[in-house]
Parts: sequence; structure tokens; C-alpha cells
Amino acid sequence: MSELVTLKTGKQVESMRRAGAIVSEMLARCSAAVRPGVTTLDLDRVAAAVLREHGATSSFLGYYGYPATICTSVNEEIVHGIPGKRRLREGDIVGIDAGAIVDGWHADAAVTVPVGEVSRAAADLIRTTREALERGIAAAKARNRLGDIGAAVQSLAEARGYSVVRNYVGHGIGRAMHEPPQVPNYGVSGQGRPITAGLCIAIEPMLNLGKPGTRLLEDGWTVVTADGSLSAHFEHTLAVTAEGPVVLTLPGAPIERERAALRPAGARR
Ligand code: MF3
Ligand code: CO
Repeated sequence: MSELVTLKTGKQVESMRRAGAIVSEMLARCSAAVRPGVTTLDLDRVAAAVLREHGATSSFLGYYGYPATICTSVNEEIVHGIPGKRRLREGDIVGIDAGAIVDGWHADAAVTVPVGEVSRAAADLIRTTREALERGIAAAKARNRLGDIGAAVQSLAEARGYSVVRNYVGHGIGRAMHEPPQVPNYGVSGQGRPITAGLCIAIEPMLNLGKPGTRLLEDGWTVVTADGSLSAHFEHTLAVTAEGPVVLTLPGAPIERERAALRPAGARR
């Protein structure tokens, strides 16, 4: 992979922000649809509907032949699970990973959601993985280095007794979903590439209840924990600015038809 990292202008980040708002809505609507009995393909359809409403397209569908709109990864599945007929059951946890393209710009984010009531162990793993992402984001500021992000994620995860997946990492993002640099969820603070304004990256910690090892299923996509232990995944796309990291995959302004409904009657077209 090329080492050339492209820094983004404010205008380019604004385009990514629009993609990010749609990704946020995909994850919110998919999360709201999660309950026992729902299939992972049902979630994929919800995500596809959100993209259609906004005239956006999936970053994932067709990527190296990937066959779905989103990834859904259940329990010991770490990432890249393919939506299908599997029905979610009470006590499962499901990772939902979504990406959108708007005007050629990508945004990518993921959440892990409990299905009904889950074990204390599962709930704690989810909470810590979300916190690890927040720590990683906080470390993504100008004058830090990439190793500071990995160290922030890893130190929290390991202090709580979890392991950090090493075979898959976060990434630069922009005109392509995956750009340099790689953004590991482990590392040494003060090491690695300097973080500068205009850098756009996806930080995506994957934490396992057991060991960090991974295995690829026969479908060629689904990555599971080698030891069968539970795994959780959270991800945000962010832009580094002089003022600090700005998360791009958050809810956006009301969409156009809602804005139209809010305008005074005389102002409607
Ligand atoms: N968010 C995932 C990643 O950064 C993208 C899914 S890979 C795909 O690796 F093949 F499904 F697109
Ligand atoms: Co990603």
C-alpha cells in the first residue's frame, strides 16, 4: 500500500461530514431494529433503505466483491460478517458496520448492540470497546502521533482484561474507504506518524473477551475469534483539525423533507 497520506481541505471534510451523517442514520435505524427474531438481512435492508432515501451508495457493496450493504457480526464474529438468514436471539451481541459514499467521499462507522437482555460480561465488553474508541479519538490531535491512538485504546482494553485484535486495523479514509495510513489499536505513545490537521481516519477498536487471535470463515469474509470468545467493535470516521478531532459520523442536520416541513407555510415551494 502507498505511504502517501492525503490531507483534506475543509470543503472536502464537509462532504465527508454529509456521508457521515447518513452512516450515523444507518446505524441508528439498524440499531433500533435489533430485537430477538430479526434476521441480519433485515438489518441490511434497513440500511439500504436509508441510503436510498438520501441518494447515497454503500461503501461496502461490491468492495472486492462484498455482497451486502453493511456488515453484521454476531457474538464471536469480530468484523465483516455477511447479513443473511440468521435470526438474532436474546443474549446475542451484534456488530453493525456501515459506510456511505456521497459525491465520491466516504464515511465509515460501526456499533455493537445487545439483543434484548445480555450477560454482564457482554455488556461490559461493549461498554469498554465504546470507551476505548472515545479514548482513541481523544488522542487523535495535532502534535500527537499515530502510536498515541493505539496506546490509548490498548491501555484501556488491557487494563480491563480484554485483548485487542491486531490482524485488522483502522485506516485513512476519503476518496476511498481504505487509504493510508493504517491505524492500529495497539502501539507505543510518541511513536509513528505525526498527526496533522487535515488527516481523516477511521478508528475502529475490536476487543475480545479471550485471546486476540483471529480466523477467517469459509465464506472468505467473516472474521471470528480463534478461541470462540465474544468480540465487540466500534468505529467512527474523524477529521483532525487545529482545534482537535471532529467526529464526522454523527447525526446531521434535519434532512430536506423535514426542513421543508419546518418552514413557515408561505415559504414553501
Ligand atoms: N468498516 C470496514 C473496514 O473498515 C469495512 C467493511 S469491509 C467490506 O474494514 F468489505 F465489507 F466492505
Ligand atoms: Co473501517
